[in-house]
Amino acid sequence: MIKDTEVVSVQIDGDRYHDTRHARVETDHIWRKTWLLAALESDLQKPKSTVTFDIGHDSIIISRANDGALYAYHNACTHRGTRLLEEGVSSSPLITCPYHAWCFNLDGQLRGAPDPNSFTAGLPGDRLRLKPVQLETWQGFVFVNMDRDAAPLSDFLGNMVKRAAPYQIAKMDLLEDQTVSVDCNWKAMIDNFSELYHVDHIHPQHKRFVDCPNASDELFENGHTGLHVPGFVTDSRYPVPDKPTDYQEMQLTALGIDASAFHGRVADIPAAITQAKREQSGRKGYDYSALSDEQLTTVFQYNLFPNIILSGSPEGLWMMRSRPHPDDPSKSYLDKWTLQLNPDPALGGASEHKQTMHAASGNSEITNGRVARDCFGHEEILSGSKSMTETIDQDISLLARVQAGARSSGFDRAWLSDQEVRVAHFHDVLNETYHKAGLIDAS
Ligand SMILES: [Fe+2]
Repeated sequence: MIKDTEVVSVQIDGDRYHDTRHARVETDHIWRKTWLLAALESDLQKPKSTVTFDIGHDSIIISRANDGALYAYHNACTHRGTRLLEEGVSSSPLITCPYHAWCFNLDGQLRGAPDPNSFTAGLPGDRLRLKPVQLETWQGFVFVNMDRDAAPLSDFLGNMVKRAAPYQIAKMDLLEDQTVSVDCNWKAMIDNFSELYHVDHIHPQHKRFVDCPNASDELFENGHTGLHVPGFVTDSRYPVPDKPTDYQEMQLTALGIDASAFHGRVADIPAAITQAKREQSGRKGYDYSALSDEQLTTVFQYNLFPNIILSGSPEGLWMMRSRPHPDDPSKSYLDKWTLQLNPDPALGGASEHKQTMHAASGNSEITNGRVARDCFGHEEILSGSKSMTETIDQDISLLARVQAGARSSGFDRAWLSDQEVRVAHFHDVLNETYHKAGLIDAS
């Protein structure tokens, strides 16, 4: 394990998963003070485009104004506070309040209000522009920070910037956009994606394409974590099979390799995959020149504090975002963007050969040239009418039970294994905030 910070304690009580005081502290000291991944730059390429991002009771508008610049401001009319735009992606030259028709330019400036002479104090532009929010971009994502005094995003991300640099995340296209409401606190979702200890038990299919026992964890400043899992291999806890598994066969075939050639030599598959990717680099639409051999066959995951999971490979990525329910700490939302690096025609790629193995359904509805956002409840996953891929569905099927148990008077605090060191790190950083707010004793 590589770490640039020390885990000093692991105090994880059950209260933080349901108590409204914890939720209020998180609102004041985390959601309103931290850089948050809010939007995709690809949704804001054209002037007049807007995206709204809701987090708790706050809603932020991100827009590309006519001057070509990106702006972020609170989604609350400066007249009487009305929420201006619904959540989602839209396009309009102006933002008009649905209540009294106050009108704002896309840089947030007040453009006009009906009957201006009826305001005896006038309509001062500085006072009445939409309240600005800090904005920065990284790897094709737009981040916002409601704290006007926050340090730059690069300071907050620290080593994550270097780790993600070889991957072409900013060039990936959105293939699927899903949001599921779940009956668990937002942190239970992050905990779930901060350890592999549960994988062998509830994701038995993983033994056929990754080797979790040989995964490596990384802990970073500010609560970020990393994970690298050897891919294109089988789980080292089990005997190597005589022939490639169904997943390995699919992976070999996708690269034009005859899977039957690996009967009796399954352990040679990663080397063959690496060689094939190197040979195809620069002429089959992909450029792997910035990636090491190990990176070509490794599944990576970077968790950005507090609520982002970036999990993927050189060819695709899941951006998963856990968001709290505005009023009920026992509920939350999981957003999942499936992003895919499509073969670049300039590098000999054939754009019609779109892979879909990263997406759950691969048949998302397209509206105005963009995949439509699909919102549903976890009940629909349990019934099988919706899916976020087999693995995520398996996690979601258990999280309401995790939440219920953590709220029981029979649970006082977690007891973690070394395999859950990223869970510990996440909560150690949270504990600093809880401690300052008087919710827990010193760690
Ligand atoms: Fe899982």
